[in-house]
Amino acid sequence: MGKEAGFKVAEMSVEERFERGLLNLSGFWSFKIDPERRGEREKWFEQDLPANWDRIYVPSPWNEQDSAYTWYMGTAWYSRDFYAPADWRGRIVALCFEGVNYRAKVWVNNFYLGEHEGGFTPFSFRAENALRFGEDNRVFVMVDNTLTKKTIPPGEGMNRTYFDFFHYGGIHRETYLLSTPRLYIDDATLRTDIDGVNGVVDIDAQIVNETGSKQSCKLVLKIFDGNKVVAEEREALVSEASSSRTVSRRLIVKNAKLWCPENPHLYKLRVTVAYGENEGDSVETRFGIRTIKVENGRILLNGRPVFLKGFGRHEDFPILGKTLTGAILRKDFGLMRELGCNSFRTSHYPYSRMHLDLADEYGFLVILEMPTVGLWQGVEKLDDPEIIEKVRRMTREAVQRDKNRPSVIMYSLFNEPDSQKEEFRALFKEAAEEARKNDPTRPITFASCRHLEDKALDMVDVLCFNFYYGWYTLCGDLEAASRTLSDTLDKLHEKHPDKPIIVTEFGADAIAGVHRDPPEMWSEEYQAELIETYWRVIRSKKYVVGGHIWNFADFRVGQSPGRTTLNRKGVFTRTRNPKLSVKKVRELFTSTPTYC
Ligand code: GCU
Repeated sequence: MGKEAGFKVAEMSVEERFERGLLNLSGFWSFKIDPERRGEREKWFEQDLPANWDRIYVPSPWNEQDSAYTWYMGTAWYSRDFYAPADWRGRIVALCFEGVNYRAKVWVNNFYLGEHEGGFTPFSFRAENALRFGEDNRVFVMVDNTLTKKTIPPGEGMNRTYFDFFHYGGIHRETYLLSTPRLYIDDATLRTDIDGVNGVVDIDAQIVNETGSKQSCKLVLKIFDGNKVVAEEREALVSEASSSRTVSRRLIVKNAKLWCPENPHLYKLRVTVAYGENEGDSVETRFGIRTIKVENGRILLNGRPVFLKGFGRHEDFPILGKTLTGAILRKDFGLMRELGCNSFRTSHYPYSRMHLDLADEYGFLVILEMPTVGLWQGVEKLDDPEIIEKVRRMTREAVQRDKNRPSVIMYSLFNEPDSQKEEFRALFKEAAEEARKNDPTRPITFASCRHLEDKALDMVDVLCFNFYYGWYTLCGDLEAASRTLSDTLDKLHEKHPDKPIIVTEFGADAIAGVHRDPPEMWSEEYQAELIETYWRVIRSKKYVVGGHIWNFADFRVGQSPGRTTLNRKGVFTRTRNPKLSVKKVRELFTSTPTYC
């Protein structure tokens, strides 16, 4: 091995780690809405910033920062200056966006860097050729959140969305500059397995060489348990000029601590590649050693059948919109843990990295959902090539971002699509191919509201259903709702006896403070009773392996006769005050074991 590069392995000290350059661009940006879409035509990105531009905070959507922007959908411009460190000259520099809803076009110093479509997955552009190092630079971002029948998710306006949550706009997640040397680690993929008491960690490290010449490198893979190195691999390798190569290695962690809800133990992998005079790059990723499988109608975590008890959530909070800060997330995770919850679905789009970091730390079992909600109603052709291309790309971006997370146990590729239509099979097939191509290790599903009419249930590993008997149908009649739920589940199980079932949505709107005896719709009592009724049926079915209450908290929606400014199916209010159901949910969840 070492010979390849004639490199003396012992040279690099154990602790050595190369720090990437990072410049966070959070803060106040200049901002201007552009309802007539003049900006691009008039090249605003080449002009000095006129004084009359507003100021807006990034990251956060524009909508609740000023009532002038609350219902604005269309094009808007962001701009700010930043200093590019002189010692970044000669390095790779990427301008990275964690989430911009919906379409973004980016210029730096009048250079057009590129565009991206999709509000909930990260993207980046190479910027080093546009930057002035050791000087101030200016970035312009044109954001357009116009909904159409072909956006994902689709719609026709702020109050004509094909989905049931508020359509925020803007740069709503972190934005930063990242610099690396010209030989860098472009990606690191982990797959874990269990071999007796040991953990098996398979690593694919992708090394890219843009130095313009062949390089003798040293690759160091280290697994840390806290500060202690528990597995290590060092080797010399040659990286050809202008090459990208993937190095695949297996490391064994002796007496591994398995990741699970009751003990979400995290390890850290550090991949380092060093070359030349003390040049190099390091990436670190936290991971857990665990296995997830679907077998004989069960979801097995580390070989044990699990039961998912939790919520469908949303990233939604007053003023901050979709940007849940660390403090809000800490509050939510504390509340979910206290309730005895062990799981949630990222309904209906991939949540922020910070959101899922906490899920890894708290040991929550997460169904990662793609932003592919609302593919029904006005969408003419589900297997439209344009829609397929977008669905595949967003699925790829989401899977690539979260593939190393222990908490992510399954991918939900759609929420409530028109899956009673034959043509949906073609779309599902494409999305499934993409998900499996990027990560063959996790089961896939979608949340169906078509139940017995559904034409695509044979295509999933796990069956997920949203039910609203007792709310949208059988209104106020929980007995009938209970019977119908039980019958429908039995019939679905009969059709697919080998597939485990999760009830991914059930719930009722409750206006905080409205109390009725006897319980009636919209009252807190009715919500609590409906949840208990459903839980009783869910727990009575051996083949049902999970239940997610819709929803963890009230959330903002568009204007419509069926909504009172919010969807109020939360068991907490929008500001996280408990409704009556919270007590009931705690009882139900804490008396439901995680292992079944
Ligand atoms: C649907 C949908 C949710 C929606 C919920 C509701 O099933 O998936 O997005 O909010 O029902 O109507 O409350």
